[in-house]
Amino acid sequence: MRTLFAKLSIALITIVVLMGTAFFVVDRVNTRVYYEELTQQLNAPIAMYVTGQRDLITAGTPDLDSLADLANHAMVINPTAEIYLLDTEGNILGHGLPPDSVVHDKVDLRPIRSLIDGSATMPIRGDDPRGSSRKVFSAFEVRTGNQLEGYLYVVLGGQKYEELANDIGSSYVGRANFYIAIVIVVLTAVVGLLVFGLLTKRLKNLSSEMQRVGASGFKSQPNLALPDSGGDEIDQLTRSFVTMSDQIQSQIEQLQENDRLRRELVSNISHDLRTPLSAVQGYLETLIIRGNTLSDEERSRYLNIARKHITRLGVLIGDLFELSKLDSASVTPNLEAFSLPELVQDVAQEFQLEAENKGITVVIDAAEDLAFTLGDIGLIQRVLENLMRNAIRFTPDGGTVTLSIRDRQQNIAVSVSDTGSGIPDKEIPRIFDRFYRAVSGEETKSDSSGLGLAIVKRILDLHDSSITVESKLEHGTRFEFELPIYEEAA
Ligand SMILES: Nc1ncnc2c1ncn2[C@@H]1O[C@H](COP(=O)(O)OP(=O)(O)OP(=O)(O)O)[C@@H](O)[C@H]1O
Ligand SMILES: [Mg+2]
Repeated sequence: MRTLFAKLSIALITIVVLMGTAFFVVDRVNTRVYYEELTQQLNAPIAMYVTGQRDLITAGTPDLDSLADLANHAMVINPTAEIYLLDTEGNILGHGLPPDSVVHDKVDLRPIRSLIDGSATMPIRGDDPRGSSRKVFSAFEVRTGNQLEGYLYVVLGGQKYEELANDIGSSYVGRANFYIAIVIVVLTAVVGLLVFGLLTKRLKNLSSEMQRVGASGFKSQPNLALPDSGGDEIDQLTRSFVTMSDQIQSQIEQLQENDRLRRELVSNISHDLRTPLSAVQGYLETLIIRGNTLSDEERSRYLNIARKHITRLGVLIGDLFELSKLDSASVTPNLEAFSLPELVQDVAQEFQLEAENKGITVVIDAAEDLAFTLGDIGLIQRVLENLMRNAIRFTPDGGTVTLSIRDRQQNIAVSVSDTGSGIPDKEIPRIFDRFYRAVSGEETKSDSSGLGLAIVKRILDLHDSSITVESKLEHGTRFEFELPIYEEAA
């Protein structure tokens, strides 16, 4: 009883049985009304005919013998007819029936008048002096000359009819209609149950397929037949399920990939933290154990190396901290208008000494009259520093690093290019990954962590901007990004 099919079936059978019963009842009522109308139409002239035969009331006195005589006559014509003679108030003056069987001595004149003046449509029912039900009748005025003396009232379908009507169950039409109703009910129920069975079978398939895919942890694809487009609600449901399970599947894969990256990150971090730490530890232990036997020169060399590692650790922790800050959802760049050429100038200044030491020339190539750009000046400075540091690191002595600023309609583009080692094509997609160091940087691996470009990418993401790389091995590399021009509010 818990399945949809069972519920639908019960609903259907209930509806069909109710409709069958309604059909049967309506049919019986209609048959009766039809019969009454027919009877009244056919027998309307009876009263007139009977009245025309004799003077039933003479000067207010009813002629009961003639009435009894006429009643017998009328009953020969129509055995269900019962004849009454009424005065002008509707009081019964006489009738041709056994005296005990008549229980009322007055009938309502209103239906009689509307039948006579034809103001109501048939069937018109009037009082039955022999009982409480209302019956169709025929009636006619009884007059002497122009004087209205009373009415002749003929109840049609009297007790005789009643007996016949109660027997209608056994009549041909009554029985036929009963069987027809039953056949219709059964046929409708059978067809309905078949249709419901087919429809719910598809739902059942869908639900068991959903369970199967769910139980497999969305690893297996749903195996469901679908029309290419359109279809009914069940098809739409199926389609939504297929789309949803695809989405869930790819989200699960994404989560697994994220998990893998996170693990890799943690192992990279631990490795990068441990290397300088154990170096520092080694030098400190040497100093403690053999401090006395070392020359001043050696001692200060060891201490300097230890300091270098500690500095590197500081930088690494600083970078990690910065990245995690930039990753947190709450960070929004503090946008303001600033002059890119000025910022580029400052950054170039910062690296001047380092570049000179390596014999590298730093060139600034800025277009004239550039508009202000919109960005977080502190973060953009960080981007330029990271790119500049890479450029200097990967460029050999005598090379050139060029910082150029160009106008690009809505934006201003900044590029940092060098004449250094270049990056192999297959490495390019990965250099923005955290902790990723390309092969070309092998020799410098010990003092770099591979976070610089990850920070650059994250900062530009926050500015809704992106960075592009062009690189040719042994020729050089060029990074470029754009920032929007600041437009003063009108
Ligand atoms: N200008 C460049 N020329 C050649 N290779 C580059 C250049 N810039 C980046 N790379 C390559 O991309 C890798 C990733 O750069 P990234 O700045 O993220 O890390 P890193 O410089 O190695 O370390 P960090 O910047 O954290 O000290 C570098 O290791 C290097 O192999
Ligand atoms: Mg770097």
